[in-house]
Amino acid sequence: MMDQAESLRRKIFEKFGKEPEKEMEPVKSGLVKIYAVVSGKGGVGKTNISVNLSIAMAKKGKKVLLLDADIGMTNADIIMGLHYEYDLFDYLEGRAELKDIIYEGPMGIKAISGGSGLLEMESLSEENQEKLIEELINLGGFDVMIIDNGAGISKETLSFMTFAHEVILVTTPEPTALTDAYRVLKTLSHYGLKSSVKLIVNKVSSKEAGDEAYEKLFATCSNFLHIELENCGYIFDDIRLEKAIMNQEPVLMSYPQALSSRNIEQIAGIILEETVFTKNISTLKQLGNRFRKIFGT
Ligand SMILES: Nc1ncnc2c1ncn2[C@@H]1O[C@H](COP(=O)(O)OP(=O)(O)OP(=O)(O)O)[C@@H](O)[C@H]1O
Ligand SMILES: [Mg+2]
Repeated sequence: MMDQAESLRRKIFEKFGKEPEKEMEPVKSGLVKIYAVVSGKGGVGKTNISVNLSIAMAKKGKKVLLLDADIGMTNADIIMGLHYEYDLFDYLEGRAELKDIIYEGPMGIKAISGGSGLLEMESLSEENQEKLIEELINLGGFDVMIIDNGAGISKETLSFMTFAHEVILVTTPEPTALTDAYRVLKTLSHYGLKSSVKLIVNKVSSKEAGDEAYEKLFATCSNFLHIELENCGYIFDDIRLEKAIMNQEPVLMSYPQALSSRNIEQIAGIILEETVFTKNISTLKQLGNRFRKIFGT
């Protein structure tokens, strides 16, 4: 009997043509940069940051694809006032076309829900995961893909951190959030998955509080880990952001002049300024062996 993973692989091969050669050509895609937004502690603002950062980058002329990867708990859609009818799972199962699972968000950004499809992605070969992502990116000619993850370290978040070109770690200045953020950095360092990570400090009461949180994590990183922590800035604790959520609108759309909106625009500028868009999206493949070592699969 064919197991589930095998039958899924077959479906993918049917969609993408013949089974890829073992020695694959580098993936040919447009110029794209993939960011995974992660945190240690939950509720620190990843989803709001993913959505608003996507909008801020779109305002700067980038074509952005937002992947809602928080399995079972998607809420980027709620913040944007969208309703995902189909998700990646529906596509993989053949119930929807790729174009049907891409939703139009504010400021022309496109959003897609991983749904339980992300769990299925694990049973796809690395080559086919890359092909799927390549198809998605080529479909919309995207420059940037932002992946909003669930909190903490799980197999899924590790997959996406490995897959993405850059990891954006979100924390608040609270000691518990900083400790949990440090745990994420420690895991990335332990497995040698990333040599640099971008930090955003959310819900700060002052610029100093943001800098202080960064300095604390930076010091621990340089003393104990082999990770360069890049300061991408801070976002004020802002009642307007909460009001915007109540209206199911991203703060950048409801209150573009709010403090938090201006902070996010600034962060988008910092991130894009140093962005080297790359043709290579085959990082999963490159890191595949190391990844296998971690999970023994
Ligand atoms: N800058 C901010 N100012 C005020 N409130 C904020 C700010 N950022 C986030 N919040 C509040 O924190 C809540 C959680 O934010 P969000 O859902 O983006 O976090 P998350 O990290 O994605 O959570 P989860 O770990 O559950 O996915 C929001 O509903 C909002 O009330
Ligand atoms: Mg979230």
